[in-house]
Amino acid sequence: MTIKNRIPLVDLRTQYDNISTEIDSAIKKVLKKANFILGEEVQKFEKKFAEFCKARFSVAVANGTDALFITLKSLGIKNDDEVITSPNTFIGTTEAITLCGAKPVFVDIHEKTFTIDESKIERAITEKTKVILPVHLYGCMCDMIKISKIAKKYKLKVVEDACQAHGSLFKTMPPGHYSDAACFSFFPGKNLGAYGDGGAVVTNNRKLYEKIKKFRNHGRARKYIHEFEGMNSRMDTLQAAILLVKLKYLKKWIQKRNKIARIYTQLLSNIREIQPPVVPRHIYHSWHLYVIKTPFRDKLKNFLESKNIFCGIHYPIPLHLQPAYKYLGYKRGDFPVAEKLSKMILTLPIYPELEYKAQLKICNLIKRFFKNVSK
Ligand SMILES: Cc1ncc(COP(=O)(O)O)c(C=O)c1O
Repeated sequence: MTIKNRIPLVDLRTQYDNISTEIDSAIKKVLKKANFILGEEVQKFEKKFAEFCKARFSVAVANGTDALFITLKSLGIKNDDEVITSPNTFIGTTEAITLCGAKPVFVDIHEKTFTIDESKIERAITEKTKVILPVHLYGCMCDMIKISKIAKKYKLKVVEDACQAHGSLFKTMPPGHYSDAACFSFFPGKNLGAYGDGGAVVTNNRKLYEKIKKFRNHGRARKYIHEFEGMNSRMDTLQAAILLVKLKYLKKWIQKRNKIARIYTQLLSNIREIQPPVVPRHIYHSWHLYVIKTPFRDKLKNFLESKNIFCGIHYPIPLHLQPAYKYLGYKRGDFPVAEKLSKMILTLPIYPELEYKAQLKICNLIKRFFKNVSK
């Protein structure tokens, strides 16, 4: 399907075809038991996902935005608090902050890794700062040791946005190890994707775990006993059953993504107008997205799409320039690295099932495009 006509950005259909017997049987089992809300698959998934993240606890929720929101709320984030994060992320990161009544405070990013520039964090800290919220964009983890040190110095909490970083490692440890909690999304296109929405929080802090677990279920301690007001953000049993099947393959899928990324980098490395992504030392990248930089981004994207190769832009407008955040008072030029990169980035197709032939075709077309550009 991928090679003949079109090469999509993500190919969930081929993935399903490869594991359909197991998935169908897992779904059928839930249907037969009819235990759709917080059924045993949810607890099983929480246990297995905590193990995968080398964490003590995991809570499965309805989506990644809720995972971030519930964690911040459970840490006591409220009106007028400030949370430091980067501007080149999905809006779910900052919605979680503003839903608590708090204010997102942006810090520019590293040009090479797209992640928050730790050397600029201290300047952004005020009396109101409560949390640093690093985003492990595209599957590349932030420098969690530097961030933890800053957090300790100023007595701040750290919540990781690991919505794109299932299986990523920093100095051999996954999201959740260096912070108060890490939040994941299981949006279908993620490295571990549900067949609908899903999310999870992992933490090593028992008190925080217990609070989050109650929060996602109306603050419920026991049936009809509500310790506090929470919300309904439970993961569906059906999604948990699907994720349990997929989790078994995740390590292997991430190894495949690494292989695909290596091939892209090799094939593209001598095109002058392209900078392939860089993996810093101490990072095991999970390659949720493979993002190149080129000043010819829009023309290259149009060219590839005219050849039925579908690329993405993650993300074309940094959050501080989005209409939704006009009220924060930021202006063009405030975060020059994020702004510059937003005009140059292009996400190439990447998924474990992407064949070498397809990669070769993509890279040959890119070479052909640049031959014509330089004429
Ligand atoms: C970096 C980042 N943060 C937050 C989210 C929000 O996750 P969800 O879409 O599951 O609410 C996403 C998902 O797209 C994301 O990529």
